[in-house]
Amino acid sequence: MGNTDVVALGGREEGRAVPDLPLRLQTVAGLIPSCGTVVDVGSDHGKLGAWCLMKKVCKSVIATDIHALPARRTEELFTSLGLSGKSSVQVTDGLCGIALKEDMTIVIAGMGGLEVCKILRSAMAEKEEIPSGMKLVLQPQRSFYEVRSFLCESGFSIRKERIAKDRGRYYVVILCEFTGKTYEISEPERFLGPLILKEKPEYFDEYMAHQKEVMGKRALGDPRCAAILNDWEKWL
Ligand SMILES: C[S@@+](CC[C@H](N)C(=O)[O-])C[C@H]1O[C@@H](n2cnc3c(N)ncnc32)[C@H](O)[C@@H]1O
Repeated sequence: MGNTDVVALGGREEGRAVPDLPLRLQTVAGLIPSCGTVVDVGSDHGKLGAWCLMKKVCKSVIATDIHALPARRTEELFTSLGLSGKSSVQVTDGLCGIALKEDMTIVIAGMGGLEVCKILRSAMAEKEEIPSGMKLVLQPQRSFYEVRSFLCESGFSIRKERIAKDRGRYYVVILCEFTGKTYEISEPERFLGPLILKEKPEYFDEYMAHQKEVMGKRALGDPRCAAILNDWEKWL
């Protein structure tokens, strides 16, 4: 897919300081493929979109936020960095009013997984069609089971999964592509990630140790987690 997993250092571009990204967003940025437009849903501070433009990952950025204040913050950052001509900022819910194109990457980072699913479900209901080949880079804060279930039931193929560690917390970042073909993944894959289990990316061992604790707590009320724990060694 090209240009993924680049080291997301700040530095300077054309005399201007590229915004520093926290480690979590560096991993998100590293999974964004070269594309025409990055759509940063829930842009808040706007650093990710500015980074993508200044590092020439994309030609243009559309930043959206449901609240006016973060949208204004994003706009001010773009203006201060001379990026206004290549960007637009919209106050909108998720992807409402955004025309989706094949050469786009939609980024939804730092939100709950159920909100991520809601945004994507609304987009699928609102748009005539989702362009084949369009990419998503998702970094849900929780509800990974629900996010991966949505992806496979909605025809988004999971292409890459990475683990980020930022200030002692683990984050999961997923790159997917719309194919329109639905597929099945197992219960452990829905919870833990099909490519995390298969490819064992950076932080795999410590992430799995942490997940074992999380599953242990959930297993008391959720037989699916108890079943996965029974077979835990199989996934290491
Ligand atoms: C925790 S911040 C994450 C910001 C940034 N994406 C990041 O990962 O650092 C969440 C942002 O998403 C915005 N937001 C929440 N729900 C949204 C929705 N349905 N559509 C657009 N923006 C939303 C919030 O206003 C907030 O600015």
